[in-house]
Order: sequence, then C-alpha cells, then structure tokens
Amino acid sequence: MNNTTKAFRGEILHFLSDPALDEANSYQYFQDGLLVVTDGLVEMIGHAQELLPKLSDDLSITEHRNGILMPGFVDTHIHFPQTEIIGSYGEQLLEWLDTYTFPTESQFGDMEFALGRAQFFLDQLLQNGTTTALVFGTVHPESVEAFFQQAQKMKLRMICGKVMMDRNAPDDLTDTAQSSYDESKALIEKWHGKDRLHYAVTPRFAPTSTSEQLHKAGDLLKEYPDVFMHTHLSENENECAWVNELFPDCENYLDVYDQHGLLSKRSVFAHGIHLCDSEYQRLSDTNSSLSYCPTSNLFLGSGLFNLQKAQEYNIDVGIGTDVGAGTSFSQLQTLNEGYKVQQLRGEKLTALKSFFLATLGGANALDLNHKIGNFELGKEADFVVLDYQCTDLMRVRMKKAKDMLERLFVLTTLGDDRAIKATYVMGELMHDRNSPKKSAI
Ligand code: GUN
Ligand code: FE
Repeated sequence: MNNTTKAFRGEILHFLSDPALDEANSYQYFQDGLLVVTDGLVEMIGHAQELLPKLSDDLSITEHRNGILMPGFVDTHIHFPQTEIIGSYGEQLLEWLDTYTFPTESQFGDMEFALGRAQFFLDQLLQNGTTTALVFGTVHPESVEAFFQQAQKMKLRMICGKVMMDRNAPDDLTDTAQSSYDESKALIEKWHGKDRLHYAVTPRFAPTSTSEQLHKAGDLLKEYPDVFMHTHLSENENECAWVNELFPDCENYLDVYDQHGLLSKRSVFAHGIHLCDSEYQRLSDTNSSLSYCPTSNLFLGSGLFNLQKAQEYNIDVGIGTDVGAGTSFSQLQTLNEGYKVQQLRGEKLTALKSFFLATLGGANALDLNHKIGNFELGKEADFVVLDYQCTDLMRVRMKKAKDMLERLFVLTTLGDDRAIKATYVMGELMHDRNSPKKSAI
C-alpha cells in the first residue's frame, strides 16, 4: 500500500441496489466499518476487525464515532444562480419566474460576479454533504465558465449547462436558436470530460424555447452522445396548459421533448408531477430519469410527485433540492419533505429508500453509477460523515432509536447542515463542520 492510502473507521452504510425491490440485499452496513481509500478511490470496504490486520501498521486511521459514514449526496436538480432568491414569497411557478428568478439571473453575464456566486454555491453544497450535482447556469456562457472553473479547483464531479431560452423571457435573458447552439458547443468543447466535469444541454423548459431551438438542442445531443440533457417537465398546471397551447401538434408535454430528440439515458427531467401513463412509459422506454424535488413542489404549490408510479414504470429517480424554488440545500431536509409528500399521497418513503435516492439512486439517475454513488471497489471516494449528536434534540431523540433504520429516519426528520460533520472529495477532507470556510461573498 503506498503513502496516498487513508483509512476511515466508523459506522458505514452504502447501497448496492434499490431497497424497494429487494431490501435485504440492497445495502451493506458495517457497525464498526473501515473504508480504505487509495489515490482517491475506494480500495477496501468492510468490517474493521477483518480489514485492520491487512493494513500496514503506520497507516493513520481517521475515526468517526457517534455518526454514520455514507457516499456523498447527489443533487439531481439545482440552479446555482438562484441561491440568493431562496425563500421568495407568494408566487407559483410562472409568476415566480417573472418576479424573482429572471431579475436575479440577469446578473450572471458578469464573470467576477458569477465566480463569487459559484464559489459560494459549491461551498454550500459541501457544507450539506452534496458532492455531485446536476446544475442549471443562466443563459450567459460566463455563468457556466465560472461554475466549471470553481468546480475544477475543488476537484468535484459536477454537471452544468448554459440555459437555452429564445422566447417568453426578458430580452437580456434570451439567446437565439443559433447562438444557443454555438455557445453550448463551445462550452462542451472546452469543458465536457475535463477532469470530473460534464456538460448538460439545458433548454430551460418548453415554453421558453422555439421548436427551432429544441431541434438545435437535439443536434448537440447527436453530435456529442455522452453529454447530458437537463430540463423541467410538467411541474405546474398552468405551465402544462401553456405548453399545450404552444405545441398543439404534440401529444403531451413529454412529447414536445421527444419530438426534438431529447430523451435518452442521460436525460434528466425535473419534477414530472402531472404526467399521464404514456409519458411514464416513454420515460421508461428511453431510460430517461426524473428528479424528485419535494421542497420546491411544496413551496411553489406545484403538486405531489408520484414516486410509486415512477417505481412501477422502472424509471430512475434522484432527489433534487431545486434551489432557489426549493427551500434548502440539505438533502436531509429535502428527504424530510419528500417523506411528507408521500404521506399526503398515502404512500410510505422508508429511510433506506430515502438514503438510496440521495446516493446510488441519484448516481443511477445521472448515469454516473460507474464512478460514484456507493463504495464499490474502484469508485471515487466522495463521502459524508453524518453526526447523530449534532444538536441537543437529535442527541435526546437518538437515545430512543432502537436501530440503524430508526436513526436514519431521525437524521432526515431533524437533520440539516448541522448534521454534516465532514465531507470528503476523493478521500480529501473538503468540509469540516468544526472549522468552516469563510464565506466567498
Ligand atoms: N421551470 C422553468 N424554469 C424553472 C426554474 O428556474 N425553476 C423551477 N422550479 N421550474 C422552472
Ligand atoms: Fe428547477
């Protein structure tokens, strides 16, 4: 073992498959576990007692007690330029966009401004245990340039794209079909596949793109088959009615994207609340994914995501915080609301399924499960340490918890960024709750 090997000891949990299918075989849990990382990749995982004799005596071991270590969280839908409008009062989607979102996004043509906001945003992610995200920029290429520059410095696995938007938005936020194609292409050439970064072709949503622009988005996906596609789908009833008016020849909302060649295993659709059976079927047939964004869906009054149906159709689902319509960067808080949304539907979201969605489920949805999402040997060692005793209330409640499953559930109910003791990227400590980084802005 060479000198870039590190070991981490504590309670460890990770998933091998979806617990909704075969719960008993879906995860590995080590009450006293050891994670061994070499050159940023997982080298060993198992019970400490079994692995310790195999390690060299001089290897230092970082111990994490009274908590649980698991793979870094994956956020499958978030907008970095909307950080500063989180919690904006009173509107549903279309009015919220006009009143709050578009004015704030208009600032991101300024590179210095965008760099500061990108840094702040990435620090927030790490503080909340999120190590990979699928991220909206703005219409300005500078926003994506700034984001990738900062993410590259922090060695993060991140996906981002420039918004394509050529109608139904303020003039200073619209591009054209051709300019959106050219600018996206230049960003793909510069950034896609560089270090741990990926590009997502990002038409905002059907109402803000002409058919010509959506065709250009489809052209990019044909030219670059391994880039991602990221957009919004069927979030709000007024939005859905508007899409029917704008695209009368399409059978349903999803069909708008389908007719322009935008459905594939690297396509991620945020929300997908008001879908018909044929849309679920088509998402399934094309291996497209959905991002479940409960804090956003409640905050904007959009509706209750049908997780059960997505599961029946075998559609990959990840969790999205959808900041700034979403109200928290914390996956724990997002799962908390996610549980309540399912309660309102008369369904149960188990704690295992929750943490699956936040880790391997998200990696599956992003088609990155060969790199991240669990501790299989050779995967990138991005992980988080959750603290069972982060507040007095959590400590008292945890005393009553009878087993690991109950502790996990309490983490989602009471937890937030205070419960994130540490976040590691490729085995390096990047966030330490006890010595937080100074804010970038
Ligand atoms: N639909 C189109 N744009 C947006 C956005 O910025 N946020 C949300 N939640 N939905 C959208
Ligand atoms: Fe969104």
